[in-house]
Amino acid sequence: MVVFVLLAVLNCCISATNGAVLPPARSDDNNDIGDGDGGQLAHRFPSAIIIGVKKSGTRALLEFLRLNPAVKAPGPEVHFFDRHFDRGFDWYRRQMPLTTADQLTIEKSPSYFVTKTAPERVHRLDPTMKLIVVVRDPITRAISDYTQTASKRPGMPSFEHMAFINATNAVLPKMTPANAQGVNTSWGAIRIGIYHRFVSRWLEYFPLHQIHFVNGERLITHPAEEIAAVEKFVGLRPTVRAEDFVLNTEKGFPCIKRTDGTTHCLGKTKGRAHPKVSPHAISRLRTFYAPLNDRFYELIGRNFGW
Ligand code: A3P
Repeated sequence: MVVFVLLAVLNCCISATNGAVLPPARSDDNNDIGDGDGGQLAHRFPSAIIIGVKKSGTRALLEFLRLNPAVKAPGPEVHFFDRHFDRGFDWYRRQMPLTTADQLTIEKSPSYFVTKTAPERVHRLDPTMKLIVVVRDPITRAISDYTQTASKRPGMPSFEHMAFINATNAVLPKMTPANAQGVNTSWGAIRIGIYHRFVSRWLEYFPLHQIHFVNGERLITHPAEEIAAVEKFVGLRPTVRAEDFVLNTEKGFPCIKRTDGTTHCLGKTKGRAHPKVSPHAISRLRTFYAPLNDRFYELIGRNFGW
């Protein structure tokens, strides 16, 4: 009897196809407390996820979106679909804030964008999930990524040294057509900017109209417009306005202007000063990314002009 029960329990969690341990299926009602009449508080699955791209302005997007009182998100990144999937869908749901049914639960974990298994896993949870991707010029993104890593690793070689394959590189990555121009595509900071590759994987599971792309450059120069487009995409009444922002002239980034007149800027790890990268290196990277950006524009039917 005990063995039978044990087998039945195991059976629920073992995939018939590959034997991998899967989390139990999501509970249908998406609700902790009662049946929910719209006003009941419950931990609910998100209906939208900011899946990336790292260092493109994902924190700014979430903080600005939360100006809309209907938007609720967990504080830290949840990393369910990449690191904690074995904890199961119910664990994921419990990481979400308490909300009423008419509020929008959203989370952001930018590493989902590049996680191979994430599209299928998100689809398994909810094929109607709305996906939000902030993108910016992959060269600026790479420099931002480098700046973050270098801030934690004193003595890190220069950006140019990392980005290009040359005789002084200790480890030479395998030559492929993509890195034949001497660009080190095995370095994550460069690879993540090959957006079309990662978007293609998401498009295997989700239709394009279910993915909204936020222009990371315009999120800095025109935050209210970018947020309004996201509010529309997720089906919220637009409430965020240009008057909600004030430019921090020292850093060159927008901050939130609160109704009591105080301002709230993102923390000091956002909007860091970037190292000066040689114009020659930038121009080589422009040549490298140009055809890859074109493939991305073609794939999503939108040109960002990088
Ligand atoms: P830098 O710090 O390199 O400038 P993410 O939140 O995805 O990690 O992205 C961080 C980047 O968001 C920052 O990179 C910065 O360029 C950009 N950003 C966009 N809007 C911002 C804002 N209002 N305040 C600070 N950084 C912002």
